[in-house]
Amino acid sequence: MSEFVRDIKAIRKRAREHMENGPVTEGYKADRSRVIDVLNEALATEIVCVLRYKRHYYTATGIASESVKSEFLQHATEEQQHADWIAERINQLGGKANFNPAGLTERSHSEYVEGSDLVSMIRENLVAERIAIESYSEIVRWLGNDDPTTRKLMEDILKVEEEHADDMANLLVRLSG
Ligand SMILES: [Fe+2]
Ligand SMILES: [Fe+2]
Repeated sequence: MSEFVRDIKAIRKRAREHMENGPVTEGYKADRSRVIDVLNEALATEIVCVLRYKRHYYTATGIASESVKSEFLQHATEEQQHADWIAERINQLGGKANFNPAGLTERSHSEYVEGSDLVSMIRENLVAERIAIESYSEIVRWLGNDDPTTRKLMEDILKVEEEHADDMANLLVRLSG
């Protein structure tokens, strides 16, 4: 491990400069506008996930549907929470969260697939979660140590997406077993 060195005088001086940037300091190492763009894609992904889970919650039918529906609703709520966290982070970075419905599905990594029955809905949710897991993992690796706060946020979300994928995979086994 290398020696921890820092110049507190310089840090104090820099803290008084560009104060309009709020939490973004001279020490921010990432490409801020690129991070904002990437976060807006993640925001679109989360919004599409909210819409898909809501659609599935309200339209699912069948004998096994009640417990599955409550799972869909819980996921919709958590995806909404992710969207809110991401929008808040975009704001902190001095960007504008993009909630424009035009182009939403193009910005989103995952797709909006309605599915015709319970099994196809669960399958589509599992696909969407797996897409989010892979693209968010890439974002985490890309951010590295350049923006630890955004990386931590994406790691927290990633953890929940992996739980979602596990939930959907378990439901598939239960329904097809
Ligand atoms: Fe999410
Ligand atoms: Fe999810």
